[in-house]
Amino acid sequence: MKFFLDTANLEQIKEANELGIIDGVTTNPTLVAREGKDFKELILEICDIINGPISVEAIGLKSDYIVKEAIEYSNWHKNIVIKIPIIGEGLKAVKKCSELGIKTNVTLIFSTNQALLAIKAGANYVSPFIGRLDDIGVNGMSIVSEILDVINNYKYKTEVIVASIRHPQHVLEAALLGAHIATIPFSVIKKLINHPLTDIGLKRFLDDWKKMNKK
Ligand code: E4P
Repeated sequence: MKFFLDTANLEQIKEANELGIIDGVTTNPTLVAREGKDFKELILEICDIINGPISVEAIGLKSDYIVKEAIEYSNWHKNIVIKIPIIGEGLKAVKKCSELGIKTNVTLIFSTNQALLAIKAGANYVSPFIGRLDDIGVNGMSIVSEILDVINNYKYKTEVIVASIRHPQHVLEAALLGAHIATIPFSVIKKLINHPLTDIGLKRFLDDWKKMNKK
């Protein structure tokens, strides 16, 4: 299973990268806007830190404009993947990008059929948004399971990025389902590491060690 970091924050990316478990990064317009930096410079700094797929979102709503953005961004760095929303114009752009050899991550997926369309258009990655489905009372993880079934049924090469992850249980469920990738906020990465029994156990070991050395 691959872990992507779901942030555009350089400090978080550096810190998470040092853990040795990060395979890529996903950004979106909200995450980039939050950093208040020059878009291209920020993306290139991320590419310098992480040697893996870096998703950069196109903001066009017409396929020609999306493809124009895709060509420009993909020329910035070899690891850039273009995030394209699952709308009709987006599908056209995904098809064109796949013909041009530009990697795509189809985003804002809330149904298995949307994922199927993206896969058929040639998407390298599909990103179902789990947390946002949970927020409206729909079990987000159920579409991850269905999308993985569709991929296995037809031996599609597209990889599933479980997105909009809110807590460690989402990561665990994604792993149990065999999802290819989870894109995880830094706050959730930290929660994955921590366990109160680890802290208690560590304290006890260190206290006992100090006692022994005092004898
Ligand atoms: C990643 O591709 C998505 O943009 C991100 O996971 C969305 O997460 P959110 O629902 O917490 O905004």
